[in-house]
Formats: sequence, C-alpha cells, structure tokens
Amino acid sequence: MTNTVRATFGGKFGVLMATLGTAVGLGNIWRFPYMCGAHGGGAFLLVFILCVLLLGLPVMITEFFIGRHSQRNVTGAFDVLAPGTRWNLIGYNGVITSFLILGFYTVVSGWTLDYMLQSVLYSFENKTAEEFASEFAVFSSGIVRPLFWTLMVILITQFVIISGVKKGIERSAKILMPLLFVFLLLLAIRSITLSNAGVGFRYLFEPDFGKIDSAAILSAMGQAFFSLSIGMGCLITYSSYFGKNTNMQETAFQVNIISIFVAILAGIMVFPAAFSFGIQPTAGAELVFITLPNVFGQLPWGNLWAFIFYALLAVAAITSVISLHEVVTLYLHEEHHITRKKAANYVSLAVLLLASISSLSLGVLKEYTLFGLTFFNFLDYITAKIMLPVGGMMTCIFVGYRIEKKILKAELTNEGTIPFYFFNTYAFFIKYIAPVAIALILFYEIGLVNLIMKLF
Ligand code: PHE
Repeated sequence: MTNTVRATFGGKFGVLMATLGTAVGLGNIWRFPYMCGAHGGGAFLLVFILCVLLLGLPVMITEFFIGRHSQRNVTGAFDVLAPGTRWNLIGYNGVITSFLILGFYTVVSGWTLDYMLQSVLYSFENKTAEEFASEFAVFSSGIVRPLFWTLMVILITQFVIISGVKKGIERSAKILMPLLFVFLLLLAIRSITLSNAGVGFRYLFEPDFGKIDSAAILSAMGQAFFSLSIGMGCLITYSSYFGKNTNMQETAFQVNIISIFVAILAGIMVFPAAFSFGIQPTAGAELVFITLPNVFGQLPWGNLWAFIFYALLAVAAITSVISLHEVVTLYLHEEHHITRKKAANYVSLAVLLLASISSLSLGVLKEYTLFGLTFFNFLDYITAKIMLPVGGMMTCIFVGYRIEKKILKAELTNEGTIPFYFFNTYAFFIKYIAPVAIALILFYEIGLVNLIMKLF
C-alpha cells in the first residue's frame, strides 16, 4: 500500500477529455470500420450501438464507481472493496489484458506514424487503389520500418507516462481531441461527396438483418467493449484520479455518445471511399490504411490534409496506448512498491518484445499461427472478444452482488448531491441483465466449451 497523495485530473473538461483520450482511438477509427466491413455493414452498426448503450454504459459507470471509491489501481481497488478475497482476479485479468492489447495496438499506432511521414515524403496523387493496397501490404509485412515505428510509439508513451498523470495525460488530450473531431468531420464530408459514394453510405446505414449471426453479435460486443476501454480496468485506473465532485454518470453518458459518433464518422469516412475506389469493405485490418490515401489523393493539398490527419490519429492512438500502459505501470508501482519510472521501464520493454512478435507475425512469422490466427490477430481476438467481455461481466457481478446498494448510490450521486434517476434500473441491469447477456453471447459464439475441448 502507498500513502502518497494521489494525483487527480483537474476540472470537468479535463476529466472528459482524459476519458475520451483513452476511449477514442484506433478502436473507433481503425477497428470499427474493419469489423463493420467484415460483418455486413449496417446491421453490425446497429448491434454495436445497442451493445454500447445496453452493456457499455452500465459497465462504464460500474468501473467509475470502483475506481473513485477505492482510489487505487486495478487490483488494489478490489482489495480495498473486498479485502482478503479473490475478487482481485478481475484486476489481474485487466492487467494482463492491457498488456496483450498493447501487443498489437502499439503496432497499428506505429503505422499511423509511418503514414504521417509518408505524407511528407511522397505524393498521394495519381496512384491507383491497387498501388496503395500493395504498398501497405509490403510495408506492414516488412521488418525494419514497422518495428522502428512501434519502438517510437513506445518511447513517446514512456516519456508521457513518466512525466506524470496530470501534465502528461490531461494536457495532451485537452488540446488534440477536439481537433481530431473537426478533422474527422471534414474528411467524412469529403468522402460522401465522392462519386458513387451513395453505395457505401447505404452499406453503412441500411441494415441487412440476414447478416446478423452470432459471430457478428460477438464482434459487435467486443467492439463496444474495446472502443469504450472497458472490461480491463482502464477506467478503474482513470476514475481513481477523478475528483469527488466529478459527475460520473454524465461523463459516462457523454463518452458513450461521442464514441458512437466517432465510429459512425469513421464509417462515413471509409465506406463511401471504399466503394468509390473499388476496395472491398471486407479488406480487414488494412481497410483504413488503403481507403483514406485514395481520398487524400483527390484533395487539393492532399498531402497536407493527410499529414494533419495521421498526426491527429497518432495522437488519439497514443493517448489510448498511454492509458493501457498506465494500467500496468500503476499496478506495478502501487502493488510491488517500485518507483513509477522503474515500473514504466519494465512495462515498455516487455511491450516492445510482445509487439515485435505481433508485428512480425504479419510478415516473416506468418506461418506460426494460434487457433488458425496470426499472433497479431490472435491478440486482437482473445482480448476484445473474450477477455474484455469476461472482465466486464465479472465487474458487474462483483458490484451487483458484493457491494451494498447504499454505498453504490452514494458514490454515483456524489453523496446525494446529484440525482441518479434510473438508479434502480441501472442496479438491476448490472446484477441480472448485463452478466447474463454477456455470458450468452460468449457461450453461443465461441462455445467456450468447444474451445476448451480443442485445447485437449
Ligand atoms: N478504446 C481504445 C480505442 O478505441 C482502445 C483501448 C481499449 C484503450 C482498452 C484502452 C483500453 O482505441
């Protein structure tokens, strides 16, 4: 245990921006279009929105409760709320999940930095969609370039993490997040005004219910958890820095709505462009990286726009990397009594190793697969589709069954000073609806039973 005074985020805007800093990132802009394209467009969007509002919102509020009430790191929080029990395993699941997500997230963040540099060095004009696609394939399956950029992402993160919570995390998020939104909006507008854009627009907004199968539902749930940064304690860690007067219900609601909004904007940016340039929406992880360069190629001063866009995307990505890193660093620092700096060093080194393997698994290590997936895809699958939902489910069960309602309500209403109109509905949801829904979705698609049998 540490008795040092913990830092807090200052002010309402700072809290919202820091939380958006972790939530909004590659999940919304890179992963959402890619999942949506893989699972049929409009129908996926609809299920995703339902998952965010019905599961994401209550889980987020619950994590805020745990973090601010305990004022501790992800595992310590459970030790404070349920001393001497194994509930802290939820926290350990969070620490491991954060680490595994870092293993592929830093790689994709590195891609954004490379594209930022490319927009300075090479012109995006007069290239065909095939050329962009093959350039990306050569780049992402290479060795030196992707590893170099992954290293850069880790070094930048390391720098911000050791310069402290308030200065590092809050300040960068406050300025750059609003700028990113403006940019997304501009690009979305440009994308819908391309020729043949209507097809892509309809693809995103006209649900074809025939495409909703259990795989799509699981992916949409995973995407909701991933894009809200829930199910792994990131928000427990962040809310442990919230002040006592932060309105957590309001913050959760705003973050959920903005996160949906950004995902839709990313969809509007990507799908009309994909159809307009003849790129398959099912292209996979490279979707954003092969569609947008085409859009930039068609804009006056396209390279300048591209540079600003990739720079902002890199920032959105790195603010999320920071939050993932912070979960593991704070855990080591508070629970294992090592300095913040030392903890951060260990985490960065370990992430570098994991991320290098995952980056190389798209190229030279492609043959080595786990359950038929490359290491990169395996990390993405197991974290987003299994570990986050399981973490979220256990978090709801913990608070729903273990915490007195009176305490829960007092924390979420700031000791009765703000109202919580739907408190009983919320409490019912986290106790009964959310855990059952999550369990059903998981069992149905993954057939966890099947998976275990496969292992033996
Ligand atoms: N929510 C982040 C994004 O959308 C990713 C993330 C997941 C960050 C889990 C932290 C924890 O990019």
